[in-house]
Amino acid sequence: MSAPQTQLTVLAETPAPRLVTEVPGPQALALIERDRKVTSPSLPRAYQFVPKRGAGSVVEDVDGNLFLDLNAGIAVASTGHCHPRVVEAVQRQAAELIHYSASDFYLPIYSEVCEQLDRIAPMKADARAFLTNSGTEAVEAAIKLARHATGRQYVISMFQSFHGRSYGSVSLTASKSLYRAGFGPMLPGVIHTWFGDCSHCPLNLTYPECDFATVRYLENVIFRRLVKPWEVAVVIVEPILGEGGYIVPPPGWMEALREVCTKHGILLAVDEVQSGMGRTGKMWAIQHSDVQPDIVLAGKGIASGIPLGAMIARDDLMVWETGAHGSTYGGNPVSCAAALATIDLIEHGLMDNAREVGGFMIEGLRRIQLRQPLVEEVRGLGMMIGIEFADHDTAVDVEKAAFRRGLLMLTCGDASLRMSPPLVFRRDQAETALGIFEEAVAEVASAGG
Ligand SMILES: Cc1ncc(COP(=O)(O)O)c(C=O)c1O
Repeated sequence: MSAPQTQLTVLAETPAPRLVTEVPGPQALALIERDRKVTSPSLPRAYQFVPKRGAGSVVEDVDGNLFLDLNAGIAVASTGHCHPRVVEAVQRQAAELIHYSASDFYLPIYSEVCEQLDRIAPMKADARAFLTNSGTEAVEAAIKLARHATGRQYVISMFQSFHGRSYGSVSLTASKSLYRAGFGPMLPGVIHTWFGDCSHCPLNLTYPECDFATVRYLENVIFRRLVKPWEVAVVIVEPILGEGGYIVPPPGWMEALREVCTKHGILLAVDEVQSGMGRTGKMWAIQHSDVQPDIVLAGKGIASGIPLGAMIARDDLMVWETGAHGSTYGGNPVSCAAALATIDLIEHGLMDNAREVGGFMIEGLRRIQLRQPLVEEVRGLGMMIGIEFADHDTAVDVEKAAFRRGLLMLTCGDASLRMSPPLVFRRDQAETALGIFEEAVAEVASAGG
């Protein structure tokens, strides 16, 4: 192992958090000031964290403070920060071939990643993959393929969902109007409907008599009043809402949605950019149901932080002709090398760890909920955990109190915090994280939060 790799292994094992300055420290504040002058003000910075290096679930900031990371760079560092196997794969590939466009020529490593994705895809039918640089590009590819393959125009997505920020994706995104404000008109032909049992929708539109009223809404309202189902190409849905609040739909809901799609020849695309790649304890969150999607979208954790996304579709849907879609960088060899190492690590231990340690965290959080009335709900699967508070400000106060103690978390939805640690997160780290989280909640409660 090289000297920098040995240092990283030591960092991954170092007990964290360990703070040596107030946070943010002086170096962090200086960098933030420098950054403020030259970066786009649109960047949604959550708090004043300035990372310098990371290993496993530990991240050191520019002042030498060690943080315990429940963000994983927003569900990206699936194998932990700088996993030695991923680092080695990236270095080896970078020394051999950094780039050649797979759209125009043939890259063996690109085909290898597509073979792996076909193997792990959550559908029985053969699948093919189109590789991208990001989640949003995978979503764009799905919109284009679905329209192309069906000859239909309309696309249905869910209120509270997040699918990215490029024009097609942001037209589907409906978690915050801020993402759309000032950018209209959006892509024509996008219609929104309700997700799950609607128990977390801001209007409190719950349908207690039937969990699947939101699916009936599709049939009874959308298809009756707005658009004929034979004009709808695809329903694009996150199997667990990510940015929209880490909300798990009730059992049976995905099956009911699948049934409506199948009945009308509508494709079902699951956006697993956040929920996929082992995070929920299965490779794909959709595998917690009996549903087989037609299209699966991956990103974030697929290559442990090297930019890569994938649109994986049933073989028979990939009918677009040569030249219809492509990308200069998508499926770049370095990102493909990282993806192959990542998939192997996820399959050989990390997915199981996500289920076990994630389950331990959910149980621990439910015990905290009994002691801390500020916590209104704990939900999630594996290492995709949402914690609901009374309002957004309380969630932000807890997020900041945790940060001051060296624990990195992020808000989501209207009034929630998310925990999405690297899948290497250990049980002892989970115990530490739970203790700090409870202290943060207690601090906010005692301040009248
Ligand atoms: C479910 C989902 N889809 C798509 C995206 C967009 O991915 P990217 O930011 O890589 O474009 C995200 C990003 O948060 C996401 O969570």
